[in-house]
Amino acid sequence: MKEIKLFSPATVANVSCGFDVLGFCLDPIGDEMVIRKSKQLGVRIIKIVGQELPLETKKNVAGVAAEALLSEIDSEYGFEIEIYKHIKAGSGIGSSAASSAGAVFGINALLGFPFTAKELIRFAMKGEELASGAAHADNVSPALLGGFTLVRCGETPDIIQLPCPNNLHAVIIHPEIELKTADARSVLKKTIPLEKAITQWGNLAAFISALYTSDYELISRSLKDVIIEPNRSALIPYFDNIKEAAINAGALGSGISGSGPSIFALTNGEVTAEKTRDEMVKILQSAKIEHSSYVSKINMQGIQILEQR
Ligand code: HSE
Repeated sequence: MKEIKLFSPATVANVSCGFDVLGFCLDPIGDEMVIRKSKQLGVRIIKIVGQELPLETKKNVAGVAAEALLSEIDSEYGFEIEIYKHIKAGSGIGSSAASSAGAVFGINALLGFPFTAKELIRFAMKGEELASGAAHADNVSPALLGGFTLVRCGETPDIIQLPCPNNLHAVIIHPEIELKTADARSVLKKTIPLEKAITQWGNLAAFISALYTSDYELISRSLKDVIIEPNRSALIPYFDNIKEAAINAGALGSGISGSGPSIFALTNGEVTAEKTRDEMVKILQSAKIEHSSYVSKINMQGIQILEQR
């Protein structure tokens, strides 16, 4: 194989109760990337369409992730990367993760799959570190593996693939303002009162249990964030109103997608998802804030190969 074209999906990190450790993969939105072998060793980003992002390898998340992979393997080829961005940077649905994960997925495929998808996560995290100052894996893991994923942090992190109830749907509302992850991390407190930590880890554990048992009511009760959302929500205009609209429309819960400004909701079924989207969007329409919105099934596949030759 000389060249590969892929779809690298958007993702929702944190999912309210799982800051930096929980994420899931979306269906309808993602970047396309073309990656090809070249005689010139190393990594070159030769084209970026749709966003103003650096072509310089060491300043581009895809370049940094790709170099991390190549530093662990002897490759007789170099690689050229073209990125067709559809996910806006700073939108909160894993734009940098899609580029980082796509780059390592594509190069790994062109090299004949020397690494498993789980092994690629540590390379893709290098891109996240460049983008946000923190090497979190809660976007790159669902992008590479699909579905819901959980990260157990540690020197050798465990990445755990979680089941997903059949009827679970996601709504994403993206107010068209840019919120850099690094800025959204800078407002976070460094210490947590014990009672909040207890609430949060109970919610996370219950949410994961509910994924295993398809218990939508337990999903609803545990989709809460008492630690991060209270600090970050002020950065997102009309956040409380949009969340309230989602709950009133029948959503199981709603919260900040990743570091925002996108807001997600989870629903039991597509009909409720559409209704939830309509009600959430109305708040931004009446505030005259440009936005885009999506209804998505949970994408169980992750990155998808579109063409190869
Ligand atoms: N877990 C990260 C954060 C996700 O919330 O900062 C960033 O996309």
